[in-house]
Formats: sequence, C-alpha cells, structure tokens
Amino acid sequence: MSFTSRIDLSENVRKQACGLLQARLSDALDLEAQAKQAHWNVKGPHFLQLHQLFDAVHDEIEQFVDLLAERITTLGHVADGRVATTAAATTLYGYPLEAAGGEAHLKALAASLGAFGKAVREAIDQASVIGDADTADLFTQVSRETDKQLWFLEAHLLAH
Ligand SMILES: [Fe+2]
Repeated sequence: MSFTSRIDLSENVRKQACGLLQARLSDALDLEAQAKQAHWNVKGPHFLQLHQLFDAVHDEIEQFVDLLAERITTLGHVADGRVATTAAATTLYGYPLEAAGGEAHLKALAASLGAFGKAVREAIDQASVIGDADTADLFTQVSRETDKQLWFLEAHLLAH
C-alpha cells in the first residue's frame, strides 16, 4: 500500500527504497529490544556503568527506529513496526537469555550491533544505486552512529 506524494521520486524508486528501509527497521526494532534486555539483566562488578551504557545504546537505537520509520512514511508507504513483523523479519542474532555477566552482554549486543551496522552500510550503496540519495544519506547517518555505539561496547571488551 502506498500514498501519492509530490516528492519528485518515482513510485518505483520510493517502493524500492522503502523495502530497504523496512528491512533495517525490523532489525532496529529487534536491536532496540536487545539493548533493553542487556540493560535489565546485566550483573557483576561493573553493573551500574554497564546498566547505564546499555540504556544509552538503547536510546540511540530508538532514534534509528524513528528515522527509518518516518522516511518510509515520508515516501508514502506504511512503516510496519508490529512485533509479529519484527520477529519474522529481523536478520539479527537471537539474544541469549542466559547472558548474565557484563562480558556476556557486551559480546551479545556487540554481535548484533555489528551485524546491524554491516547491513546498514550495504543499504547505503543500495539506496544510491536505486537513485534515492536522501535515503542513502539517512543510512549513512545511522551507520556512522552505529559504528560509534559499537566502539563504546568494544572499548569495554578490549579492557578484559
Ligand atoms: Fe531502566
């Protein structure tokens, strides 16, 4: 389903761009929940620092979700943030329920963040090929911030 718009991108371009955006939206929604999973369940000597770090990562991912979803609606399509859609479409690793210590949560979240960043970086080029420079720019913004969040997580892992 799509809506008409005065945006000077063809319906074909908008449809393809929204396909890219929707795929990463499902990943980002999964990732957002994974960051909360880490925030709630982390234990150990660095509890408070990691508890706060994982919440900060969550807040950044929440912004990705909004950017991706609102680009879809801007392009005249329907952003699908339903839990059932997210569960079916996410390409990320399943979050380990048994993770408890800081290192386990850091590694689990870093793995998902790294996979997300790889997919988003690929989407930059794909959006460029489609001919939607603005969506490519949005993916670039998300990619750059994903790299930074990954740095925050990996800096803790390198200290071990
Ligand atoms: Fe909290």
